[in-house]
Amino acid sequence: MTEFLRLGVNIDHVATVRNARGVGYPDPVRAALVAAEAGADGITAHLREDRRHITDDDIARLVAELTIPLNLEMAATEEMLAIALRHRPHAACIVPEKREERTTEGGLDAAGMHNHLAPMVSALQDAGIRVSLFVEPAARQIDAALRLGAPVIELHTGAYAEMTGDARTAELQRLIDAAALAAKNGIEVHAGHGLTVDNVAPIAAIPQLRELNIGHSLIADAIFLGLGDAVRAMRAAMDVAR
Ligand code: PXP
Repeated sequence: MTEFLRLGVNIDHVATVRNARGVGYPDPVRAALVAAEAGADGITAHLREDRRHITDDDIARLVAELTIPLNLEMAATEEMLAIALRHRPHAACIVPEKREERTTEGGLDAAGMHNHLAPMVSALQDAGIRVSLFVEPAARQIDAALRLGAPVIELHTGAYAEMTGDARTAELQRLIDAAALAAKNGIEVHAGHGLTVDNVAPIAAIPQLRELNIGHSLIADAIFLGLGDAVRAMRAAMDVAR
């Protein structure tokens, strides 16, 4: 049976618009509450090392005000680990982070970073935080997630979103195979990055997926539709594919 596919709404780019002017609006916490009201199953926020969008105060307020789960995206650094342990979000997704990148480019090298990640994964799990690793759809990364004892992986759909034609079909197949392999090994599978109402259907149709995390296109659609309707349109596009 295909299980329900949760929609996690990433609100980073509400903060991007706010920070472009250094003012207090639009408030990403207000956006999170509107998204929840419109049917989001969770909220995702990435506290980047350079604080270019979400701030420490946003995280504190999200933890205080949300009634749906918060998924904190974080780099594998001691600073972010301490923040996660202080706020104890429902989930933490460990992502690669380079200061110069525009957005998260490529997945975490969970295989190559085993020794660095192992104590972080343990510390987060010991604090009751559900850990996921943001990885490319590749068997070696899934093996690495298993060895690390991560209960969840999030598959990077950025390449799928950027590709067209046969290349996209091949990348979709990699995502399908990776989801099946991970689920067979008892790992919960999420996906995200670059998803839009127009490209989400083949991803939402992957039966093992339990959650999609979607931000940029939703906030972009919200300019024209309002955030509530943008969330509802994404929910409908996911449900049709399921
Ligand atoms: N999932 C992860 C792990 C991410 O880093 C991001 C981008 O912050 C997303 C999902 C959402 O990607 P997008 O903003 O392209 O929808």
